[in-house]
Amino acid sequence: VLTLNGLVIIITGAGSGIGAALARAASTAGAKIVLAARRRDRLERTAADCPGQTLIVPADLTLPDHRQDLVRQTLDRFGCIDLLINNAGLGAYGHFLDSDEDQWRRLFEINLFAPVFLTRLVLPHMIERGSGLILNVASIGGLIAHADRVTPYVSSKHAVLGFSRGLAKDLAGTGVRVLAACPHLTDTEFFATSPGAEDMADTLNQYRAYMDTPQDVAQGILDRLDSEQLVIFPTEKPARAYEKQRDLR
Ligand SMILES: NC(=O)c1ccc[n+]([C@@H]2O[C@H](COP(=O)([O-])OP(=O)(O)OC[C@H]3O[C@@H](n4cnc5c(N)ncnc54)[C@H](OP(=O)(O)O)[C@@H]3O)[C@@H](O)[C@H]2O)c1
Repeated sequence: VLTLNGLVIIITGAGSGIGAALARAASTAGAKIVLAARRRDRLERTAADCPGQTLIVPADLTLPDHRQDLVRQTLDRFGCIDLLINNAGLGAYGHFLDSDEDQWRRLFEINLFAPVFLTRLVLPHMIERGSGLILNVASIGGLIAHADRVTPYVSSKHAVLGFSRGLAKDLAGTGVRVLAACPHLTDTEFFATSPGAEDMADTLNQYRAYMDTPQDVAQGILDRLDSEQLVIFPTEKPARAYEKQRDLR
């Protein structure tokens, strides 16, 4: 298990769900945490539960200057970045024929391009120091089409897996590692805030008892940061779902 004590960690989407749980657990383990998302009040709520040093940077990570500001403020305050956790993301529910170009582009802005371009900003610092870790929070939907009516989401998360795998090859020998965490259904605000989720409420509620908690997912991710495999399953559920469905692709 990677020792987090003293490490500087940027966590995007840290105002709720998996990101907030990651922040609390990593801070409890002694890390210095930088919390980013759009809503300041939610970041403050997360920070209040973090026992260690925290820096709050409200940011819309689809905007280039907000990404730059996040990296600059982190380096000004803590001097380095050991771990970037690209966790902020959104779902989208509905049949492919009901999706439009604008929805696809907006989803890819936050689920793919925000992690890609934030990583692009952070990497030079990590490569210069000869160490670092990029952790992309993808999804079981990055490996398989786990359900119907989630085509844009599954596409964006498959792209996150492709980005992670390509990047890992380019970074061989630099001392910087790449991981892609693939959670399964997790009980967070995701199902309230993702466009189209309101029409799926009955179906989603049926699954609620089966969902992982964000705390279990966060701890499962942090326990596997030393993984030699790029893909990590935070709990047993996504691991089992993948075993069951991967031969059907
Ligand atoms: N819940 C699941 O079942 C599940 C399963 C597999 C993978 N995941 C992945 O896990 C990650 C975290 O999701 P979650 O379940 O914890 O959902 P969540 O509670 O809704 O958290 C999403 C976070 O992303 C932030 N965010 C959204 N758009 C943003 C933007 N433009 N700029 C900056 N921050 C933004 C949100 O904060 P603001 O609104 O304040 O910006 C929020 O803190 C996502 O990448 C999701 O795809 C979730």
